[in-house]
Amino acid sequence: MHQRQSPIYTPPSGPPQVDRPSEEIFPALGQKGVFELLATLYEHLEQSPVRPMFPEDMHTASERSAAFFVQLLGGPPLFNQHYGPPRMRQRHLPFEIDAAAREIWLACFDKALEDAPQRIGFPEQHIPGFRRFLEAFSEWMVNHKPAS
Ligand code: HEM
Repeated sequence: MHQRQSPIYTPPSGPPQVDRPSEEIFPALGQKGVFELLATLYEHLEQSPVRPMFPEDMHTASERSAAFFVQLLGGPPLFNQHYGPPRMRQRHLPFEIDAAAREIWLACFDKALEDAPQRIGFPEQHIPGFRRFLEAFSEWMVNHKPAS
């Protein structure tokens, strides 16, 4: 795994100030749909330039992220039950995440969302709000600023 060696950068914007995604999303997708969405995200990450940051077993990694999204979207608190308090920024600190890595991650999520309405019944009208959440939350995962 690719471990960080550089100082930690803290985005000046501070922790994300963004509305949670709509509570209508979870009932439409169900737990299974959320796991499928995250499995698709990780398939795209697997093919992306940020692949080396992730562990060998992308499927298991996708399940950890899915547990988080289930609870974020108002489903059962799977992440806390299995892995403890989310503390997402802290959990991402071992990985050097810069603005470029964030863009790649977001682009992979966009691809996963593209056919999500047909594939898993993601309510189309809630995609923009979900996307806004990802955009704000992912900014807070950025912890590295390359020297310019
Ligand atoms: C900014 C771009 C991001 C990058 C490059 C990134 C990268 C990573 C990496 C390398 C891991 C470790 C893989 C593992 O061992 O599971 C990880 C884990 C995880 N990420 Fe991200 N991430 C990003 C943003 C986000 C965002 C915005 C969220 C949620 C809204 C998120 C949720 C998670 C979760 C839940 C885990 C599993 C944590 C654990 O249990 O250890 N990530 N991410």
